[in-house]
Amino acid sequence: MESDVTQELTVLGLETSCDETAAAVVRGRAPGPGVILSNIVSSQIAVHRPYGGVVPEIAARAHVEIVDLIVAQALDDAGVMLGELDGIAVTAGPGLIGGVAVGLTTAKGLALASGKQLIALNHLEAHALTARLTDGVAFPFLLLLVSGGHCQLLICEGVGRFTRLGTTIDDAAGEAFDKTAKLLGLGFPGGPAIETAAKLGNAKRFRFPRPLVDGEGFDFSFSGLKSAVRRAGEVEGLDVVTVRDIAASFQAAAVDVLTQRSLKAMRAMRERDLNMRCLVVAGGVAANESLSRSLRAAAVTEGFDLVVPRPSLCTDNGAMVAWAGIERLGLGLTDGMSAAARARWPLDQRRQGVPGAKS
Ligand code: KG4
Ligand code: ZN
Repeated sequence: MESDVTQELTVLGLETSCDETAAAVVRGRAPGPGVILSNIVSSQIAVHRPYGGVVPEIAARAHVEIVDLIVAQALDDAGVMLGELDGIAVTAGPGLIGGVAVGLTTAKGLALASGKQLIALNHLEAHALTARLTDGVAFPFLLLLVSGGHCQLLICEGVGRFTRLGTTIDDAAGEAFDKTAKLLGLGFPGGPAIETAAKLGNAKRFRFPRPLVDGEGFDFSFSGLKSAVRRAGEVEGLDVVTVRDIAASFQAAAVDVLTQRSLKAMRAMRERDLNMRCLVVAGGVAANESLSRSLRAAAVTEGFDLVVPRPSLCTDNGAMVAWAGIERLGLGLTDGMSAAARARWPLDQRRQGVPGAKS
């Protein structure tokens, strides 16, 4: 469903589904690219670091304390008044329900006070559509969605039109990075810590398993990899050199799994002769340089373009929410005050309830 909207829209986007309180103002029209007028992200990393992960109660409270300020700063930076907006977009799920409720309630209040349209949208769709905000990527495209809670390969045919090819049967990609970093004592969040340590390590010292790469379908699995990392640490000890070598070997295995699966999906798309020539990577793990390098090489062999948004637009942010709001508003897809916060919300609704599949 490619929109033929001609009017430019200006939308405020709010993001509070995990540990970033974020707001942004974006202007544009489908299919993009759009213009980011402001993009404010307040990270709670320091608050959660002592616990080694995000604590939902603390996250919700921290969002409440700062969300008004972040919204005011986003409007101020953009030089846009509330009354000049066309709509207010907000992540309504999936995510930590307390945080999602804070963002949604704030957005409803703003929409009510200003008489503007509310767009209560799926966080994963916001990640997915970021490549249109940055590069104006046309539908359909192949999407590798790799974040703290998700690891999926999808076909994206339009706004709200996703078909899932595969998902993780255990841990999400970011979760695997985070758990491995914890095992290695590298701290939180794990993805960037592993990437930094891996740059100094020998990726060939440990040959960790690549679960499911030879299997049928497009599913992922990371728990065997995590167990192998734990065993290596127990056997070898965690001296500085070994930690770096394990980090490098783990990253090489994870990147390999993600690349092989994406390669297989690109090949399948080509064989099915779907009019699709772009692989988009989205979600926090897309910020990993080693992953984008490897995917770029794979895409070249299949004649695909690779689009990876810049790191600050891969991890959670308000600009992606504002852009998804522009796309939805342009199609007349708005929400009422009864819009609900949802902890779980699969992108591909047809796959709801698939055993072993994460939403
Ligand atoms: O999309 P995101 O910001 O939040 C969720 O919606 O989950 O993704 C966060 C995840 C975390 O697991 C984090 O460790 C991972 O993305 N991540 C990375 C990198 N930067 C963030 N993983 C690998 N390499 C990175 N450079
Ligand atoms: Zn995310």
